[in-house]
Amino acid sequence: MTVSPNALTETDGDLMRFDKSAETIRRNSQWISGGVNSNFRLNIAPTPLVFESGEGPYLHDVDGNTLIDYYLGMGPMILGHKPKALVDAVKTQIDNGILFAGQTAVEAEAARLVCELVPSAERMRFGSSGSEVDQAAMRLARAATGRTLIVKFEGHYHGWFDNVLWSTAPAAGQGGDESAPTPVIGSKGQLPESADELVVLPWNDLAVLEARLAKGDIAAVIMEAAMCNQGAIQPADGYLEGVREACTKYGTILIFDEVITGFRLAPGGAQEKFGVLPDLCTFGKAIANGFPVAAIAGRADLMDMFTNAGVVHGGTYNAQPVAMAATVATLKSLTPALYDGIAENGNALIEGFREIFAREGVTAQVVGFPQVFHVALGLEQPARSYRDLTKMNKKAYVALTTALLQRGVRALERGAWFMSSTHDKAVVDATLDAMSGAVKALKADGTM
Ligand SMILES: Cc1ncc(COP(=O)(O)O)c(C=O)c1O
Repeated sequence: MTVSPNALTETDGDLMRFDKSAETIRRNSQWISGGVNSNFRLNIAPTPLVFESGEGPYLHDVDGNTLIDYYLGMGPMILGHKPKALVDAVKTQIDNGILFAGQTAVEAEAARLVCELVPSAERMRFGSSGSEVDQAAMRLARAATGRTLIVKFEGHYHGWFDNVLWSTAPAAGQGGDESAPTPVIGSKGQLPESADELVVLPWNDLAVLEARLAKGDIAAVIMEAAMCNQGAIQPADGYLEGVREACTKYGTILIFDEVITGFRLAPGGAQEKFGVLPDLCTFGKAIANGFPVAAIAGRADLMDMFTNAGVVHGGTYNAQPVAMAATVATLKSLTPALYDGIAENGNALIEGFREIFAREGVTAQVVGFPQVFHVALGLEQPARSYRDLTKMNKKAYVALTTALLQRGVRALERGAWFMSSTHDKAVVDATLDAMSGAVKALKADGTM
C-alpha cells in the first residue's frame, strides 16, 4: 500500500475500510449487548472489528483487510496467532477428552513448568481468568493475616470485580490529593461499600506506602510490579526492594499481579526481571497464548492454606485439560532465543517510533519494555505514575490508532503495544512505514 504525506484527505482509496465490521457489530447487537462480549471492546474507533482468522503477527478481518496486530488478544499471544506447536498439542488433547472434573498428567506438567519458571512459585493452582486469581490471592492474604484491608495503587487494574474496580483509570482531577487518593468507582452497580476494605495509594512512592503499612493493619499490598495496564512504567530504583522489606516488617502479604508481566517480561515475569520476590503472585494472558488460563502461585505455606486451613478456591474450568495442553506448549516455547528475538524487534520498533516523532516534531514518550511498551502523546517526560499519564493527549492518540488501522496496523487506544515472537524485522519495518504515514497525515490535517 502506498501512503502519501496527506493520505487522510488525498488517498482515501488506499486506506483500509471497516464497513463490514461496523455493519456486523450493528447486526450482532440484536443478540450480543453492544455487539461485543467485554466492555473493553466497546467504543473502539472507527468501530469494534470482526475477525475471520489470525496467523503469526496478522489478523484477517471481515472487510478483507490484513492487519499487523499489536493487541495480541490484549497481551496473551506472545507466540503470535495460531502457533503450530500449540495447535498440535490442543488437537491431540481434544482427541483424549475435554473436561473430567479430575486430575490429569497434562495439568501436573503445566504446574511443574510454572514452578520451575517463576522464582517465587513454591506451589501453585490454576484458574480461568486474571480477575479470579487476584480474588483468590486477596482471600489467602486475609486468611493468613487475619486482617481485611488491601492496598492497591492508582491506575493498577486487578480485574473487574466490585472490590478492586476502583481508581483503575480515573480522569484528571477525579482522585483528589495525589499522596492520599480518594477511591474512584469504576462501574455503575458496583457496591460503594466494596471500597471500605481498600486503601488506594500512589504507586512508586515508597514513603507513602511505608507510612501506611506502619499502622500494622494491612493484609496485602497488590500491585503490578511494572505498571503495564496503564502506561508501561518501570518501578523506581529501589522501590520494589523497599516494598518487599516494608511488607515483611509489618506482616503484610505482598502480591505481584503478573497477569500482563508474567511470562512476557521474562520467563519468570517481573519478579525475575527485577529480582524481588512476592509472597503470592498471579498470572493469566501469556501463560497459555490465548487459552483462558490463569494461575496463583507463591509461598507453599500460604498456598497450602487452600488445602489445610479452610480457604476455598474453586472453578469448574480450572486446569481444563485442553487449556493445560496449550499452557504446556506455550511454556515450553519460552526459550532465551525467543526473548532475544522479541527484544531485538521490540527495541527496533521503540527506537523507530522515537525517530519518527522526533523527525515530525511530535511531543511523545515511547517507554517500557521491548515485550510491552507504551506510546504517550503530549508528554515531555516519561510518566512515573498514573497521574502523569492523565496528561497525555488521548484524543490525538485515538486519531493516531485510527490512522494506523487504516494503514494496516492495529494498536490499542490506551497506548500499549504488545510484541510477539512472530513480529520480525519485516513486520517492524511495515509498522514503521505505517506510523510514518499516519503521523504525516495527522500533522497535515492539524490533528497533531
Ligand atoms: C494486571 C491485570 N490484572 C488482572 C487482569 C484481569 O484479568 P482477566 O481479564 O483475565 O480477568 C488484567 C486484565 O487485563 C490485568 O491486566
